[in-house]
Amino acid sequence: MFRQALLGSKVARTLVPRSTARVLGRSGINLVPLRTYADRFDINKAENLEARRLKSLPKTQQWAQYFQTTEFKKMMTKYYVGMFAVLLIALYYYMNDKYKEEKHLKKIRRKYHEDRSSLSEYEFLKLKLTSGIKLKPREEKKFELYTKMRRELLKNGTLETLELYDPTPEDLEEWYSKQEVKKVVIAGVSEDSSDGLSGKAAVKTSTIEMLMEETPEGPLTNLTNPKIQPALDTTDLFDDIAAEYDDSLKWEERGILMGMRRKWLMNKAEGHVLEVACGTGRNIPYFNPLGKIDSITYMDSAPRMVEICQKKFREKYPNYRKAAFAVGKAENMDTLNPHQYDTVIEAFGLCAYEDPVKALRNMTRVLKPGGRLILLEHGRTHYDFLNNHLDFRSEKRMKTWGCRWNLDIGEIVEDAGLDITYEKHAHFGSTWMLICKRPEDPMRLDEKPFLKKLLGSKMNTVDRGDK
Ligand SMILES: C[S@@+](CC[C@H](N)C(=O)[O-])C[C@H]1O[C@@H](n2cnc3c(N)ncnc32)[C@H](O)[C@@H]1O
Repeated sequence: MFRQALLGSKVARTLVPRSTARVLGRSGINLVPLRTYADRFDINKAENLEARRLKSLPKTQQWAQYFQTTEFKKMMTKYYVGMFAVLLIALYYYMNDKYKEEKHLKKIRRKYHEDRSSLSEYEFLKLKLTSGIKLKPREEKKFELYTKMRRELLKNGTLETLELYDPTPEDLEEWYSKQEVKKVVIAGVSEDSSDGLSGKAAVKTSTIEMLMEETPEGPLTNLTNPKIQPALDTTDLFDDIAAEYDDSLKWEERGILMGMRRKWLMNKAEGHVLEVACGTGRNIPYFNPLGKIDSITYMDSAPRMVEICQKKFREKYPNYRKAAFAVGKAENMDTLNPHQYDTVIEAFGLCAYEDPVKALRNMTRVLKPGGRLILLEHGRTHYDFLNNHLDFRSEKRMKTWGCRWNLDIGEIVEDAGLDITYEKHAHFGSTWMLICKRPEDPMRLDEKPFLKKLLGSKMNTVDRGDK
């Protein structure tokens, strides 16, 4: 009855709004679409026509027309003003920070000129860094921790002004010992278990082991990190896997574009070149016989690796006469004549050596004065979550690949007494690309940072005097 009344009613035909008609339509009451007064008398005729015309245009043109409307322009003016205000606020905070930093630096410089031995470790590192002097890997690591600590103190209000920040190494140790990082549990990393445990159970076991382990005081180093596997002679392991080595690595390396890094390594080599731990010769595709290299010697401790490398090279360059192949350990190279090579190159060898520091010292010894050691390595990163993963899987990695992939490469280079003139990282920092030199050799012009080249550095060395 209601339906009939509604259908028959004149009021319903003229005054019930469209939305009501739609709702009724859904319940089966099909009304002729009702018209509003504006529709009936076409009050907004021009506007309606315009709206219909716009609707018929493609979406891009509709947007283009909208951008030209006064409505849009007014709205944008508001946005611009808002954005400008936000930028101004950010700029204020940035300049304020810079001002405080500069004041802090001034204080450190004054202290340095008055009595350099009074500089604390943090101040010394800060001064070095701001004078354009490259920090040693361990110094860099420490400075990073000091900076993290400073940020945290500023954030929680313990430190009000930068000028008051001058912690002692003991303060840093204390702060570091309270950090969560050592207790991080690597959730979700499943260990495929040979001992019959399910993935989840294996994770649990390893986690408990990690937490129970005595963690040494202070930032972990290669010597104190209990998760770094004991050094081992990996020659036999590599000799055994030599035949499958290329096949098992091929896709992984393609996936992470390792070829680019290998190319970089080979491009840096010049003159008489020695490649240590050459393996199966995975850098051969990037060797240019007509380029800067005068001769190349390949060396590895695993005889089968050298065999494959030699075969690969000969197939590719049958007429190249200045290539030699040798079986030998990097640690035993001290029997070689010193100063023979212009460049020593090495890819992913430090993780495989029994004594990587000795190996590096030997490589340095055979370099001619001014020669360079070019390294492409993998190891610890700047990210704790990744380091935890590397630590967690270190045992398995050592067993299957003879590789200590959680070593801090920077520390090894520092322990070998080398200076780093170029450093770049890839793959979240785990791939290290380094150019090293003996400390007594001068920097080449092309190795100096651009600004240093342009302006010259005010200070070439910063030392703490008698401290
Ligand atoms: C991870 S592989 C890297 C091979 C190759 N450089 C590459 O980029 O594929 C490590 C290599 O180091 C070699 N190696 C292990 N211990 C060595 C040592 N003490 N002296 C020289 N080479 C060694 C192994 O035989 C193996 O070929």
